[in-house]
Amino acid sequence: MSRQEPGAEAYVPADADLDGLRAAATGCRGCSLYKDATQTVFGAGEAAARVVLVGEVPGDQEDKKGAPFVGPAGRLLDRALVEAGIDRGDAYVTNAVKHFKFKQDAPGKRRIHQTPDAVEIAACRPWLVAEFALLDPTVVVSLGAVAGKALLGPSFRVTKQRGVLMARPALGDLPARDDRFIVATLHPSAVIRADDREAVYAGFLADLKVAAQALG
Ligand code: URA
Ligand code: SF4
Repeated sequence: MSRQEPGAEAYVPADADLDGLRAAATGCRGCSLYKDATQTVFGAGEAAARVVLVGEVPGDQEDKKGAPFVGPAGRLLDRALVEAGIDRGDAYVTNAVKHFKFKQDAPGKRRIHQTPDAVEIAACRPWLVAEFALLDPTVVVSLGAVAGKALLGPSFRVTKQRGVLMARPALGDLPARDDRFIVATLHPSAVIRADDREAVYAGFLADLKVAAQALG
């Protein structure tokens, strides 16, 4: 019954830098999400970034513009980063899954974000692993449950593990490091959707400040 996807592995070039990965990812057919999306939305930022932020999946605006976190969630994230004292210019921003997943009732209707499933997250994971092989951030910030599961494993629970500075676990071929950190928090979209938005934002900001402290 489980659906099969070929996965991104065959599309990830050996010995590429981030620009090389980004170029190769434009042609990824590792799962069926590329079919309805406009383009691959790869990570953005410098290889030397001291912070890496990992989201879930690009949204409608990211899909159109080809860059991560440039829509409403990105604006909230930008504001929170400024308030937490993290320079977005010092951050590499990416997503666990790199094509927009959506449902649309009819052509021309609003495209509604869908959460990628475990098969799609696993299919896209080689890109995330390849990015991390070229990055060496002091701290990774995991935004939401999908990123948390991709980075910390299937038993990750954002409510239990958020806001705690943890040693970075192994990721693909990358060994675990106890001098590198990861902090999990909510997805910025969860702040936008929350009824008690101010309180939820305050919690999100507090978690980002934990990451900021690790940066020194
Ligand atoms: N939400 C995400 O998880 N990533 C984006 O890039 C935009 C919205
Ligand atoms: Fe490839 Fe990931 Fe896009 Fe699927 S979502 S086609 S694995 S880049």
